[in-house]
Amino acid sequence: MTATEDLRAEHEGVLRMLDILRAIVVRINAGQAESGQIDAGQAVPVTHLESILEFLRVFVDKCHHGKEEDILFPALEQGGVTREGGPIGVMLQEHALGRGHIRDMGAALAGQGGLSAFVAPALAYAELLTQHIAKENNILFVMADRLLGAPALTQMHEAFERLEAERIGPGRHEAFHRLLDDLAAEYLAA
Ligand SMILES: [Fe+2]
Ligand SMILES: [Fe+2]
Repeated sequence: MTATEDLRAEHEGVLRMLDILRAIVVRINAGQAESGQIDAGQAVPVTHLESILEFLRVFVDKCHHGKEEDILFPALEQGGVTREGGPIGVMLQEHALGRGHIRDMGAALAGQGGLSAFVAPALAYAELLTQHIAKENNILFVMADRLLGAPALTQMHEAFERLEAERIGPGRHEAFHRLLDDLAAEYLAA
C-alpha cells in the first residue's frame, strides 16, 4: 500500500462519519421541532456525540492530519510544492479551521448551550472537510503520486504505520472503525 492509498482509504471513513454527523443534526433539529425545546436531549444520546468528537480529535486530527502535516506535506515541499500561497498552505489552513469547529462542538457539549449550539459547528465542519477531502483526493494526492512515485510512497506508508502506533497506539484504529459501523447502523440505516 502507498501513503496516498492509505490516506484515501481514511478519507472514506471520515466521509462516512460526516454523513453520520449530518444525520444526527437532522435528528436533533427534528427533536427540537417536536418538543419545542432548545435541548432535545432525547433525540440523540450525548455519549454518541462525545464518541464522534473523540473520532474527530484522534482519528481525523491527531492521526490522519498528523500523517499529512508531519510526513506527506514536508516531502511535497522538498519536491518543490510551495507552502505559502500554494496548495499545502491551503490544506494547513483548513486543518486549523477544522480544529476550531471541533473546539466549538466540544464547548457546546460541555456548556449550557445544549445540542442546539452543537449544530452550527457540526454542519460547518462537515462542509469544510467534505470540500477539503475532495481537494486532496483530486488535486494534492494526484500531484503527490506523480511527484514522489510509488516506491517512495510505499516507504512513506511504513512511516505512517509508525506514526499511528506512536500517537494512537495499537488497536485504536480498529476500534474507530467499529464505532463507525455502530453509529452507521443507528443513524444511516434506511
Ligand atoms: Fe488534510
Ligand atoms: Fe486528508
